[in-house]
Amino acid sequence: MKIQTSSKAIKADVFLLTLFEKENLSSEHKKALGSESSKEIADRIKAKDFTGAKGQSLKLYPKKGGFKSVVVIGRGNKKKQMPSAVEKLGGTLSAHTKGKKSALIFTSKDEFEALAQGFMLGAYEFKDYKKEDKKAVKLTNLTFLTEKKANLTKLLAFNQGQKTTRDLVNTPAGDLNTQDLVNRAKEIGKKYKMKVTVFDEKKLEKMGCGGLIGVGKGAEVGPRMVIMEYKHKSKAKQASIAFVGKGIVFDTGGLNLKPTGYMETMKQDMAGAATVLGAIEAIAAAKMPGHFVAVLCCAENAVSDRATRPGDVLKMYNGKTVEVTNTDAEGRLVLADGLAYTEAKLKPKMMINIATLTGAVSVALGYHITGVMGNKQKLIDQILKLSKEANERSWQLPLSPDFISACKGDFTDLKNSVNGVRAGSTMGGAFLSNFVDKVDWAHFDIGGTAWADKPNSTTKYGATGAALRTFIKLAEKHSA
Ligand code: BES
Ligand code: MN
Ligand code: ZN
Repeated sequence: MKIQTSSKAIKADVFLLTLFEKENLSSEHKKALGSESSKEIADRIKAKDFTGAKGQSLKLYPKKGGFKSVVVIGRGNKKKQMPSAVEKLGGTLSAHTKGKKSALIFTSKDEFEALAQGFMLGAYEFKDYKKEDKKAVKLTNLTFLTEKKANLTKLLAFNQGQKTTRDLVNTPAGDLNTQDLVNRAKEIGKKYKMKVTVFDEKKLEKMGCGGLIGVGKGAEVGPRMVIMEYKHKSKAKQASIAFVGKGIVFDTGGLNLKPTGYMETMKQDMAGAATVLGAIEAIAAAKMPGHFVAVLCCAENAVSDRATRPGDVLKMYNGKTVEVTNTDAEGRLVLADGLAYTEAKLKPKMMINIATLTGAVSVALGYHITGVMGNKQKLIDQILKLSKEANERSWQLPLSPDFISACKGDFTDLKNSVNGVRAGSTMGGAFLSNFVDKVDWAHFDIGGTAWADKPNSTTKYGATGAALRTFIKLAEKHSA
């Protein structure tokens, strides 16, 4: 698909523009539409045929001019817009380009980024497992009609990143084991000349990564840790951010097996790793100056006679011992090693981890808000602000000392799951905090947001790419 911006209207199969309730066509709208279409739309507004109500659309098929069709889309009441309304509108616009070869979209400069990102998110399709429809018409030319030139490199970089993340999450575990995930990371690393280091189970064992080994040992293909280092126009020895992702290619729950209804979508459990990979790809594709690291903590939580049992004790990279009270609380075990290793050896200025860590986060915040915790309020405040600017939603959950003490083991240093405290998402974060020493650290729990059963204009069914835009914004803030 060719994407461009233009300050003048050009020919297209469909011209898309949007209006709030009670909003009339502007002079710019009219200039692009031509007098006939402008008059028809104005008449239809006058006749209350089109009111600008949210989701409403008005279609014209002008006989003259450069457009085969024109669609006006209603945005609803201007004062009652959701924070991510512009992005969602972009998704709606993409749906209106289905079956068209070319589209022209009217947008203001201010709304361009959110609208275009939303368009890309909405246009995403996962077709790897569908018989190819050779006759399907594809959108090949997309033009944004906007006053000034916009940053298309950034948009295309984001698009590539979101595609990588969502494709990986949507790919079934039968076709994506830990080594496949490693191979994908290597491919991307090679393309952008990053340094990629892979630790396999033998090496992880030697390093003392008991968490990764313990979770991964029931599976045919063992655990892996991948480190990707991106450096561009930066002399900094320390990475400004290390992104660490949970990469459980499938979570059966282990011997504490998940019941029917809870296991079906657990191919999504590597969404954290897929997001850090998508983020570093987007950063590299945008040629962002800076020094960033992505760490993928990969394992399959399988059922086997070799699998870790409830009651088994693991010794983690930082020397702490953990009683596995529940084999289904496996994400925190692989991340514990990833975080401790990253801080000790890679010494980043800031460490951000992301994981489909708990189901409990969706009890607290639902399916559209990511839970964020951490050890420095200043960093969390910055993350919450940037997440808003990125058209995403996140909310802080508490991480007070009482929750951290509650992770203590009876005869080990820690246990991975504790009965009777509830606050499942916070307890996940509290466990992780035992593997972070001094570095500024935040934890994103995307257990409710990484996957959509109920699609909307930008998320579709399946992987959503949640938190990716926030990560890119964060990287921009801390770029060299
Ligand atoms: N991967 C799951 C969490 C999850 C559930 C993510 C649903 C996305 C959708 C995680 O490994 C898990 O099983 N967590 C347990 C923790 C519990 C055993 C302490 C949970 O949330 O129930
Ligand atoms: Mn689990
Ligand atoms: Zn899991």
